[in-house]
Amino acid sequence: MTHPDIFQPYEKLVEIEILGRRFSVPENNSLLRCFQYLSLESISYGDFCWNGECLNCQVWIRDGEKEKPAMACRTTVAEGMQIVRLAPAIDLGEAAAEAGHE
Ligand code: FES
Repeated sequence: MTHPDIFQPYEKLVEIEILGRRFSVPENNSLLRCFQYLSLESISYGDFCWNGECLNCQVWIRDGEKEKPAMACRTTVAEGMQIVRLAPAIDLGEAAAEAGHE
């Protein structure tokens, strides 16, 4: 599997959960890069500033009993992260379809 050289260097993939489904994504990368890894076209051509200004990349991460909002472009992925909600601009394309979320 090859990807353009847009990702931070990584040696392994970590497992995260998006809307209840597990995905393996590259460590050391922002969540938005991880989404791009899962759905290269839709995220690459999506309406994202990539620098913390537009909020189109907002996600909600489970934090104990709560859901904590975060900007995917400013949040580094971590093993076991549970993303429970995505801003409408985040289109995970095929990955989301496989997850049963359209
Ligand atoms: S992509 Fe614009 S705030 Fe994250």
